[in-house]
Amino acid sequence: MRDQPLTIYAAKGVFSALVDFCHAERKRCVSDGCLLWVGHIRFCPVDPHMGTYNQGDHDPGGQAATAWLDDDADRLKAIAAQGGRTLWYNPNGALAPNPMPAHDGEIIKMDDLATIPAMLAKPTLRTCLAWMDAWVLPDNIRRHVELVARLAYGLGGMLRGQGQQVDPILAHRGGLLHDLDKLHTLDRSRRHGDTAAAFLWEQGHPDLAEIVRGHILGSVLEDQTDLRTWEARLVFFCDKLVEQDQIVPFDVRLSALKARYPGFRQIMDQAEPYVWALNDQICSILSISNHENLISILEEL
Ligand SMILES: [Fe+2]
Repeated sequence: MRDQPLTIYAAKGVFSALVDFCHAERKRCVSDGCLLWVGHIRFCPVDPHMGTYNQGDHDPGGQAATAWLDDDADRLKAIAAQGGRTLWYNPNGALAPNPMPAHDGEIIKMDDLATIPAMLAKPTLRTCLAWMDAWVLPDNIRRHVELVARLAYGLGGMLRGQGQQVDPILAHRGGLLHDLDKLHTLDRSRRHGDTAAAFLWEQGHPDLAEIVRGHILGSVLEDQTDLRTWEARLVFFCDKLVEQDQIVPFDVRLSALKARYPGFRQIMDQAEPYVWALNDQICSILSISNHENLISILEEL
C-alpha cells in the first residue's frame, strides 16, 4: 500500500491549513491551489456541508477518495459508518469526542502526513466490530474490551502529547481485539491470545497480532513477546486495570485473576513487578503522582 498513490479528500479549511503548513515549514510539497502533493499522497479540497459531505464531490482528476480528512470528528464518523476511510485533523492533539473513535488516524503535525499509509493499513472500526461479531464475543467481554480500548486510546493520546511515539487509534483497535479468542481458549488447549493473533496475521495486521498475543500477564516473562511498542504496552497495561467492565487498581485486578486462574498464580507473581514498573513509567511521563491518581484520571476518560 505504501507505494500506491493515495488521494485524500480534505475539507477546504483543512486543505488550506495543510498548504500553509507546507509553505511555512518549507516541506517538499507541490500545490497549485487545487491540489497538494506530499510525496505520493495527493490532497484534494472538498466542500463539507449539511453536516456531511456531498458524496458526489470529486476532484478535477476524477480520482476516488482513498480517505477523507476533516477537523470535524462527527462528519468523519458519518463517512466511516458508510465504509469510508477517515483521518482526523487534530492539530491540538485533543482526544476524540466519541469514546469509540471511528476515524483511522490523526494528523497532528506536518510530519504525520508521511505516515498516512500506515494509518490506513489498520482495520477500520467497522471491521473490528464485525470480527467481534464473527468471533461471537458475549456482551460482558464486549463491555470489557470496549473499556480497555477506551483507556488505551486515552492514555495513548496523553503520552503522544508528551512526545511519545504512539498511535492512539492503533492502541484502541488493539484494545477492542485483545480478547477476540477468549471463548475459543477457555479449555486451555491453546494459549489465550495466540489464536486471535494468528487470525490477525492472516488478515495482514502483524502489529495488531503482536498486541493481542502479548496482552496476557505472563507474556512479559516470555522472551519472544514483543511489548516494545507503546500500543502493545498500553493494551497490556489497561487490561490489568479493567476487571469485567470496571476500572480498578491493579492489585484488585490481580487478586481477581489469581482467584479465577489459581494455576497461574506463580506466573502472575513473577509478572507483577513488570506491571508496576510500567505504571511508574507512565506516571512519570504524564507527571501523575501515584497509581491511585492515575486510576482517577482514567475514570474521567
Ligand atoms: Fe482483557
